[in-house]
Amino acid sequence: MRNEYITYPVIIESIQKESFDTKTFKLTLEDKAPAASFDFKPGQFMQVSLLGVGEAPISITSCPADAGFLEFTIRAAGKLTRAIHQLKPGDKIYIRGPYGNSFPIEQLGGRDLYFISGGIGLPPLRSVIRTVFDKREDFGKIKILYGAKTPDELCFKEELETWKEMNDTEVLITVDEPDDGWQGSVGVVTTLWNKTDMTTSSGVAFVCGPPIMIKFVVIELLQSGFKDENIYITLERYMKCGIGKCGHCNIAGKFVCIDGPVFTYSQLKRFPDKERVIA
Ligand SMILES: Cc1cc2nc3c(=O)[nH]c(=O)nc-3n(C[C@H](O)[C@H](O)[C@H](O)COP(=O)(O)OP(=O)(O)OC[C@H]3O[C@@H](n4cnc5c(N)ncnc54)[C@H](O)[C@@H]3O)c2cc1C
Ligand code: FES
Repeated sequence: MRNEYITYPVIIESIQKESFDTKTFKLTLEDKAPAASFDFKPGQFMQVSLLGVGEAPISITSCPADAGFLEFTIRAAGKLTRAIHQLKPGDKIYIRGPYGNSFPIEQLGGRDLYFISGGIGLPPLRSVIRTVFDKREDFGKIKILYGAKTPDELCFKEELETWKEMNDTEVLITVDEPDDGWQGSVGVVTTLWNKTDMTTSSGVAFVCGPPIMIKFVVIELLQSGFKDENIYITLERYMKCGIGKCGHCNIAGKFVCIDGPVFTYSQLKRFPDKERVIA
């Protein structure tokens, strides 16, 4: 029987600096690793580790159609992620997974899609956004609303520009604290509601960001006519096993590692401690 806890090495092919504390790592498999392990769905995560340092869940930010590599966008937040930031191309990190559920994009053909993220919340959504752009004609209009604390903290700056060029797609970006060169919007992500029409009764929203952002975004989405079941939220919780064994990620009887990390608002609003999850 396969041991779920066994990790396998991946090689860092290249590193892209996104901001002062965030980097995107492009990873390829070692020859002996099982090729099937790179199969995943947008929204899933891997348990990423360094021997003797630690292990943490990290969302896959590349797209399943990217053949032969995986990408993680990692913020240097603590012991493991700071150690990963010290690595160079050619170094190894260890992964197991993919784990968790995913965004059900195959069921959303023809629908208008709204992606709303804050800070390091864009990396998990990038996997879905790129998957949707690969089949652009299968979906309705696309709106991407993205907020960061400062212009330097925006991830995927060049890619955001290419997304603006996609057919029937609007990309709106805002920062809380502009610098001298910033000419765009200023304010939290919900202030972008004043810059575009978000009214819809059938649109589907994908939300990822800090809990306080999620709380206020959900309020705006509901006021704009989004239905509870059309709001998909991806949650972060402290995890250990990642496979439903240890209970570390338990919220209201659900395990974020196997029942999530993607939940609809109709599921979340039934959680007795909803305020702790998205506030
Ligand atoms: C499904 C999922 C996907 C994720 N995807 C990404 C991603 O794509 N990119 C990314 O950068 N991060 C992601 N994260 C977050 C990442 O897993 C955490 O930040 C992780 O803790 C980093 O590990 P570390 O050892 O570097 O930091 P840690 O040592 O765990 O410290 C990180 C921060 O959390 C605090 N902390 C640590 N333990 C606790 C605790 N028990 N209670 C409260 N605070 C604590 C620390 O003080 C520090 O501020 C994801 C998390 C989940 C659950
Ligand atoms: S992390 Fe162990 S049950 Fe979810």
